[in-house]
Amino acid sequence: MSDPNDLAAFLDLGWQCLTRGVADRRAAARHPSFATVSPEGRPEARTVVLRGASRSAGTVEVHTDGGSDKMASLRANPFAQLMIWDEKAKLQIRLSTSVEIAQGAEVADKWQKVPDGSRMAYGASPTPGTPIPQAHAYDKLAHRDWFTVLTCRIESVELMQLLDSHRRAVFRAEDGWLGQWVVP
Ligand SMILES: Cc1cc2nc3c(=O)[nH]c(=O)nc-3n(C[C@H](O)[C@H](O)[C@H](O)COP(=O)(O)O)c2cc1C
Repeated sequence: MSDPNDLAAFLDLGWQCLTRGVADRRAAARHPSFATVSPEGRPEARTVVLRGASRSAGTVEVHTDGGSDKMASLRANPFAQLMIWDEKAKLQIRLSTSVEIAQGAEVADKWQKVPDGSRMAYGASPTPGTPIPQAHAYDKLAHRDWFTVLTCRIESVELMQLLDSHRRAVFRAEDGWLGQWVVP
């Protein structure tokens, strides 16, 4: 390994994992845990697909069903943490973000790019989480009205790497991603 104290190279590694997650279905970063805070103040986490990652914009993107419970959580508390464990790189990535919700005409161009098979993920009827009498007593409307883009503006990136000696650093948007080593 090159200089283990090189903060910029450590952040580069984090972004490599994230961008690979968007492009490669088998990459670890393809499926982050997406944690929010419920309107009652309770933690809630679920698996999502990483749909976009832009280092220059400082954002990652997730798509969801506008009828899902996480929408009420994000409206009450517009923050999410995304967490990834990349076994190959021995790297845990935690992204603390504030979340912007976009729907309807605003996301028409992105909806056009969603393959037909994947459109089923948007617009469950009744809405996700509703009790039903049988396992398959629901429809998938696959309608743009339910397609929701969550743009997660990254406030901080925390990286923790478990090589022979562990290392951990926090990078914050507010100081231009300079980075700070912290005790693992
Ligand atoms: C592999 C996998 C990928 C998933 N991808 C997404 C996704 O991209 N967006 C999403 O909203 N839910 C996704 N889900 C479903 C969520 O984990 C969750 O069950 C659903 O969003 C409802 O969560 P909520 O009730 O907390 O809103 C995925 C689940 C799995 C197992």
